[in-house]
Amino acid sequence: MAVTATPKLDAQRLRADFPFLEELVNGRPVAFLDSAASTQKPRQMLDALVGLYSHSYANVHRGVYRLAERATDAYEGARANVAAFVNAPSEREVIFTRQATEALNLVAYAWGLDNLGEGDLVLVSELEHHSNFVPWQYIAHRQGASFRTIPIDDAGELRLDDLDGLIRGERLKVVAVGLVSNTLGTVNPVEKLAAWAHGHGAITVVDAAQAAPHRAIDVQALDCDFLAISAHKMLGPTGVGALWGRRELLEEMSPFNLGGHMIRTVDVEKTTWGQLPHKFEAGTGPIAEAVGFGAAIDYLNAVGLDAIERHEHELTEYALGRLGELDWVETYGPPPERRAGIVSFNVTGVHPHDVCQILDWEGVAIRGGHHCTQPLMHRLGVIATNRASFYLYTIPEEIDRLVDGLHKVKSSLG
Ligand SMILES: Cc1ncc(COP(=O)(O)O)c(C=O)c1O
Repeated sequence: MAVTATPKLDAQRLRADFPFLEELVNGRPVAFLDSAASTQKPRQMLDALVGLYSHSYANVHRGVYRLAERATDAYEGARANVAAFVNAPSEREVIFTRQATEALNLVAYAWGLDNLGEGDLVLVSELEHHSNFVPWQYIAHRQGASFRTIPIDDAGELRLDDLDGLIRGERLKVVAVGLVSNTLGTVNPVEKLAAWAHGHGAITVVDAAQAAPHRAIDVQALDCDFLAISAHKMLGPTGVGALWGRRELLEEMSPFNLGGHMIRTVDVEKTTWGQLPHKFEAGTGPIAEAVGFGAAIDYLNAVGLDAIERHEHELTEYALGRLGELDWVETYGPPPERRAGIVSFNVTGVHPHDVCQILDWEGVAIRGGHHCTQPLMHRLGVIATNRASFYLYTIPEEIDRLVDGLHKVKSSLG
């Protein structure tokens, strides 16, 4: 078998596509190390938004005139792009939502209210973002089901040694887990968890909001039942995300939002639901946003997910090495080979918000806070961390600027 090296990405060349780099602080482009919160946008994606609004805009799935047909084609083309991106067996299984949060709420409500009850168990991980934690906790409690977390070890990796021990006489119904942790960057063994969950007759819900921007996603290889993503974390616009769901499950589920477009027939006695995916897409959809999402996926595919993953891996290794030189900085999370381009850390004795403020004066943008993972903060025994996160436009010099900035933090506050 031929051994092919993973292609290398040219971040300097890609940077020319990103207008945000025109933002200067003290004469230099801002070192944007907060892509895990939301990514910057390439011109190609912005052009797709402007192009749609300028030349092909009308409501979709309604008009029979040419403009409406062009808009519908563009919208459905974007759905095809998303479906291919996650290797969905069918485009009908892809539902446009407002973001990953709405996709996860859709499953928790529409599947959970009909399928969870007393004696059932919902498991989420201790690493989970609140978006894949709170909806499940809420629906489980509302339905009288048990809700528990899969623990992590001190390196921030899921402990799979005693999964069966988490089931205390209940029926396991849901395992909801992120593919990549937004706080520690941990890449979770979702395939293993899905196999274990299916062995117990449970469904697996994957929050891929933080994975899809950085690595190839294959819902069939993961063998999960639902998977959620957000466009704004993968070069696309805000206001759109997607839920992929296994067709049999989506077919039998009740709708989530009700109103226009999601119906087949309505009369005073009874309303019947439309086909997939329309049954879950009430109201006017995120038309331009979806088209921008499709363009962002085109851009990611052109760069190559494998090249992006390799680039981030190199940056993470470099960042952990540089931060490791500072004995007054504590880093959290697994070794670089088992994490995505996310590094959480604390400067001894300095609150993350103060760290972020000083770094901002140096033109370095990172995030400080609990990152919507309060249960994880409790487990780590901290109230907050700093988080630097990387993407395809990140260059090692920006990590050097982060480290220089941390020296300033140390000299002024440490
Ligand atoms: C792992 C993870 N899940 C879910 C979300 C929620 O994403 P959105 O706000 O786009 O719904 C985020 C956002 O930070 C995240 O990092």
